[in-house]
Amino acid sequence: MSAPTTVLITGGAGFIGSHACVDLLDHGYEVIVVDDYSNSTPQVFARVERIAGRFVGDVYELDIRDRQALSAVFDRHAVDAVMHFASLKSVSASTSTPIEYYDTNVGGMTALLRTMHEHGVHQLVYSSSCSVYGEAGTGPLDESTPARPTNPYAASKWVCEQILADVCRRRPEYTVLCLRYFNPVGAHPSGLLGEDPHGTPGNLMPYLAQVAIGRRERLSVYGGDYPTHDGTAIRDYIHVMDTVEAHRVALDHFGDAPGMHVYNLGLGHGNSVLDVVAAFTRACGRPIPYEIVPRRPGDVAALVADSSAVRRAWGWGPVRDLADMCRDAWHFQRLNPRGYADSARRPAAQQ
Ligand code: NAD
Ligand code: WQD
Repeated sequence: MSAPTTVLITGGAGFIGSHACVDLLDHGYEVIVVDDYSNSTPQVFARVERIAGRFVGDVYELDIRDRQALSAVFDRHAVDAVMHFASLKSVSASTSTPIEYYDTNVGGMTALLRTMHEHGVHQLVYSSSCSVYGEAGTGPLDESTPARPTNPYAASKWVCEQILADVCRRRPEYTVLCLRYFNPVGAHPSGLLGEDPHGTPGNLMPYLAQVAIGRRERLSVYGGDYPTHDGTAIRDYIHVMDTVEAHRVALDHFGDAPGMHVYNLGLGHGNSVLDVVAAFTRACGRPIPYEIVPRRPGDVAALVADSSAVRRAWGWGPVRDLADMCRDAWHFQRLNPRGYADSARRPAAQQ
């Protein structure tokens, strides 16, 4: 099997997808993007192209559940492999709109799979999440840890994994590389691309960055009574550039063995919320006001990856540390106080 050269990226305007576009363009791949901009903006592509010094192939504004529109994209391009980032990702929103989450995340993925199947495309890198482990315990979690999703978002990711595993068991032509990310954060080092969530950030790093730039008064630290070294919860943060690099490296491994292969993406060690606040304070050189408030419902004390499997399989591991993540997240926020709001539009998102 030859390594893919044309990669379709679903959700390519989003946080991780846009960084994947840059990384693939930088490494000579042809990139096709589909996105409905429900959590992103097409303005990001002007920046992707500025960094990469190349045009993104074609960009299509469509909902991946629209099989007719998706099929037209596959008709038009000889796609070798798909990186599937498009999904809804807010844990809290998923608890109030579970049907929407299953429809987009599961329905979107089956629509994509059917379209791939009809077009003879059998190589997929799937964005899964550490959230499938749920409340699995505090030690480093390897991929054999039983999934115990505790909310509709995590459950939708787990359902997708099971569908993909089942397809791979029954159809030997498929290879699915399923990457369970822990906490991707940071930004492209240029400061042109980063995390720009719609509305109030629900995640720690973008919230911290908005406090540092003065858009928000203070950070609420959820819980100071966890059984950790400083009482705040521990997560395994991984730089978004390492995250997307793993996806590119995955493209070289479709030929290793057919079937579904699941890998954690994390550093293999965690940092507490106050560790992150301290690292961000060093990065931005200004104090970050915070207060400790009660725990956020559904949060667990620690989620840390055992990230040895991907290293064994591909000889790959993340190289950027928490200081790099904070430096790059701050660089993006400082250069873009209002995120992508002020940036120039790409000439036209093609349809
Ligand atoms: P994001 O919201 O920034 O990007 C997702 C993109 O998909 C957005 O551009 C959005 O507009 C698009 N999209 C959503 N629904 C769509 C639809 N029906 N049709 C077409 N496009 C659609 O999210 P992200 O942080 O870049 O996450 C990418 C993937 O990684 C997601 O699948 C997410 O579940 C997974 N993931 C993210 C994290 C994280 O912390 N960011 C952690 C683990 C897993
Ligand atoms: C990190 C830590 C919070 C905000 C989520 C999803 C998970 C995956 C990664 C997609 C926690 C604390 C946060 C704030 C805080 N995403 N915190 N104040 O919850 O570990 O994981 O993103 O798959 O599925 O659940 O990430 O960034 O929200 O929180 O104290 O304002 O920061 O309690 O300990 P989380 P997060």
